Order: sequence, then structure tokens, then C-alpha cells
Amino acid sequence: MPNYIIIKDKIKSFKKKIKVSSDKSISIRSVLLASQAVGVSKISNLLESEDVLNTLKTVKKLGIKYKKYGNVYHIHGFGINGFNINKNTTINAGNSGTLARLILGLLVKSKYKIKLIGDKSLSKRDFSRVIKPLKLFGANIKSKNDFLPIEILGTDFLRPITYEENIGSAQVKSCIIFSALNTPGTTVINSKNSRNHTELMLKFLKYPIKVKKQKKIDKISVDGQNQFKAFKYNIPGDISSASFFIVLTLLSKNSEMTIKNVNVNQSRIGIIKILNIMGAGIILKNKTLYNGEEIADIYIKSKKNLISINCPSNYNSSAIDEFLIIFLVAAKSKGISRFKDLGEMNKKESKRLNLGINFLKIIGIKVERFGNNINIYGNPNLELTDTFEIKNFLKDHRIFFLSCIAALTLGGRWKINDQASANTSFPKFLEILKIVGAKINWEEEKI
Ligand code: S3P
Repeated sequence: MPNYIIIKDKIKSFKKKIKVSSDKSISIRSVLLASQAVGVSKISNLLESEDVLNTLKTVKKLGIKYKKYGNVYHIHGFGINGFNINKNTTINAGNSGTLARLILGLLVKSKYKIKLIGDKSLSKRDFSRVIKPLKLFGANIKSKNDFLPIEILGTDFLRPITYEENIGSAQVKSCIIFSALNTPGTTVINSKNSRNHTELMLKFLKYPIKVKKQKKIDKISVDGQNQFKAFKYNIPGDISSASFFIVLTLLSKNSEMTIKNVNVNQSRIGIIKILNIMGAGIILKNKTLYNGEEIADIYIKSKKNLISINCPSNYNSSAIDEFLIIFLVAAKSKGISRFKDLGEMNKKESKRLNLGINFLKIIGIKVERFGNNINIYGNPNLELTDTFEIKNFLKDHRIFFLSCIAALTLGGRWKINDQASANTSFPKFLEILKIVGAKINWEEEKI
């Protein structure tokens, strides 16, 4: 099968109940924490996407054994810093910024030097944001101007730090928390709001971590060198994967969808808040709490009269991976939508702010850019008839998903490259699209 897809038809109206793939952030954290627990942790519904499979491969290389029984991964940990590391070990984080940043935090005490590498996209991402705090802890780190490959050698003389995390990055925050697990004394992070799965999981594991909520900052204190036991965890659905089906439904005619069992943690649902301000009327049903995480079914109906938004930037971190698809909604809404301070989008698997703007221009939408702020001139009557080709040079999964949803809701004939990028976070994306009624082809000559 070629590595592109062809979409020539808009999706017909549908009424479906679906499940999306399991949460990537929680899957990666559950494997890494299981590797530091004492005993055999049992993780059900682990996302089997490339980022998570690379996490499993990484802990295996560091001496952790695991086996899958039915739907459950059994992971055998030997405690914090219980890795069994060989000399000259290289670990490969593939495309995953989360794995790369978090694993460094767990290696601050490693007795041998470990080399960390990644794919072309990850090798273009800046690691200074984690190298800086890790060096303050006392870890020895060498890099190529803060880019991969990175070599880390741990130390027995770690010292606790107090750190101002002012990017609003959960990867940085979690890297520091992981490093603090190995460090004597109390590490304090004054962290700009970002997803809080690491803190919630450690609380669930009864680890001594305290979070004091202040207005835009969480003051997190971690008492180092305590231990937690093996655990059981059932991973819920991923709101970031659900977001593409939310927008598919919203922008299709006479359609309805329920997405079952999705993680709707407040630090992740910026997209729902933003789309509801735009008139989407998305409803969260059957809310429950699971180990500190909120879970719900998401109900969406098509909407004709969406309106523009002046998006408050305090939603940025809770919607950071969803702005590409939010831009598509802005393109179909009445009025000018304004988004501010989106520089972090350009620090992702590709430069998503630049690519998102180009994408909107390609589909005929006027966009103004002032630094990291953008104005999108919506057109509720937008219908496409031209031919489009999306190259996706850096194989960014979210660019692939965005292109598919645009093709299925706006029309036109599309060749979308790198369908394999879906495997990064959502291997069943095309399969579920087809169940909902999308026609996906592979014959180029017919476009
Ligand atoms: C993630 C955090 C976010 C997000 C990424 C996953 C995580 O990155 O973009 O896809 O699991 O911690 P930042 O923390 O760098 O914003």
C-alpha cells in the first residue's frame, strides 16, 4: 500500500458511537512509572502507537522486562533508579518529545553514560528546556548545542532544586519531577499551568508530592527518594485523538457522534471550551473520576452557525496539540477569530504554527500574523473543488489528521502524504474514519 491516501468525497451524514485510541500522555507515563515501581504493574488498554512502543523498547533496553497477556501489559519494575544499565547504551525516542524529555529525568543517577537519539523531527527540537534544570540537579549532560544526540551520565551527588517552569510545558515539569524522585530532599517547581497527569499518577501511587494551586501557577513539592509499589491502571481515551472526530462531526451535515470513555482532565479540554464558545454545544456525559483523572463520553452534533472567537491565551496550554484542528473550525466560522501567544506550536513535531497558517492559505482562508498571534478570517460558506497535495515532510501525525478532516468536510480532491505518521499516536485513525463512513482511496490516477 502506498504511503499516501486519496480523498475525493466529503463524508455523508452519520450517527455513530465510537471509541478513540488510548491517551498517549498517560500511556507513556504509566510505562515509565511502572519501570520505577517495585513489583509487577498491570496496564490495560495501553496505547500501542509508535511513541508508546518506543517507550516500552526504551525501558527494555534499560533492563526492564515486560510481557503482554491479552489486553494487559505486565511490567516488572525494581524501584526508583532500578534500571539495569549496560555500558554504551543508546536509547531511541523516535518521534516522541515526551519520552525523550521524561526519560532524561529518570536517568540522573545512572552509573553509565546513556546516549539518547531520535528521528529527524525530534532531532530538530530544542532540549535546552530540560538540560538546564537537569544540570542544576547535578547530572552530567553533553549535547550538540542543546539538540540530540544527548549523552547523560548520572551522579550520586544530586541536589534538590527550586525551579521556575515558565514555558507551561508538562514535559519539562514531568522531567523535573522524575529527576526529583532520585534526589534527596524536597524539589520545588513553580510551574505555569500544563497537563498534570504525572502529578495525578504519583498522588494515586501515594508518593509524597504536593500541589498548591495558585492562579496561573502550580507550586509542586516532591520529596525525593521515596518509593511506590506496582500498580494497576486502565488507560482512558485520548482527547487529542478525539478532537479530530469532534471537528469531523461539527463540520459535517446532519451528523451526531458519541465518543466513549475519554480523558477530560481540565488541563486537556481547552478544545471543548474553545469550540463551545464558538457555538459548538459539545456535551460531556457520564462523568466519572478514575485515579484522579476525569473521564466522560463526549457528545457532538453538526453545527451550521459557528461564530469566531477571541481566544483567551490562558486556554493555550490545555489545547496546545489541538490548535491545528481548531483553526479549521475558525476557517468555517462567521467572523475573525483571534489567537495569541502560540509560539509553542512551533516547538512541536513540526513547526505547526507556520504549517497551520500555510494550510489555511492553501484552502483559501485569509490569515494575518503578528509574531505569534494570528487572525483567521472565517468563511462559513467555504467549499473546495480544487486538487490539493499535502506533503508532510516531517511526518507530523497531526498534520496528517488535519488534512483528512479538511478533505472530508470541505470537499475537493486531496492527496495526503505519509499515512504512516498516524502510527505515532492513533494507528486506528483511518479504520475508524471508514467505520464512520469516509471513503479513502489509494489510486493516484483517479484524483
Ligand atoms: C505532552 C505535553 C505537551 C504536548 C505533547 C505531550 C506530555 O508538550 O504538546 O504532545 O505528554 O507531557 P509540552 O509539555 O512541551 O507543551
